Amino acid sequence: MSDIAKRNAAREALKLVEDGMVLGLGTGSTAKHFVDGVGELIAKGWKLSGAPTSIQTEKQAVACGIPLVDLDDVDVIHLTIDGADEFDPDMNLIKGGGAALLREKIIADYSERMVVITDASKQVETLGAFPLPVEVNPFGMALTRKRISHALEMLGMKDISIKQRANGDGSALFTDGGHHIYDLHCGQILDVASLATMLDQIPGVVEHGLFVGLADAVIIGNETGTQTLIR
Ligand code: 5RP
Repeated sequence: MSDIAKRNAAREALKLVEDGMVLGLGTGSTAKHFVDGVGELIAKGWKLSGAPTSIQTEKQAVACGIPLVDLDDVDVIHLTIDGADEFDPDMNLIKGGGAALLREKIIADYSERMVVITDASKQVETLGAFPLPVEVNPFGMALTRKRISHALEMLGMKDISIKQRANGDGSALFTDGGHHIYDLHCGQILDVASLATMLDQIPGVVEHGLFVGLADAVIIGNETGTQTLIR
């Protein structure tokens, strides 16, 4: 996705921001443009605060002068703006390409409104070409993997490769929460709701990257402007 398209989507999302809002701040190269824009509004005197969805975004928010909220004290998150790895016609998402899915989902779920900023390359008829991230507790994770495999088979999803995510140097990736990630190379997820429910029921699964019914709108950036899909 071109950086101009990402920036256009983020700039369009900034139009949804109102003075006084508590904002959920997404993670990734698209959300980064939004966080920059929030920093610019604060520099102009707007009273905004942010709930970052990752340590990476937290660092950027601090550098931009965005006051952070303590999630233990916050009553409302008015609007969350975040990227996505895929979105389908029902605005179901795959997220977690940046390994931030757990915090992203906690904040999206609590938000009054969640808007995705993206470009057309993430638009699919059926989710699943992008490997589905599943965040797992390190304890007994080989057993958790077997449970995930079994769940996939129950849904008729055969021979799905499950790969533990690694850092660039080959070491095991740890998320901000101290967990690991299995990427499920599904190809196609024909029954998103059932897979989400089955993954939710596996004890070692901390969270998965299927965001079902959480997005209220998707802003699709392109080289010259944006198109917005609204639920
Ligand atoms: C991070 C995410 C990101 O939102 C997703 O990976 C999209 O990132 P980008 O805007 O860089 O394409 O889910 O966990």
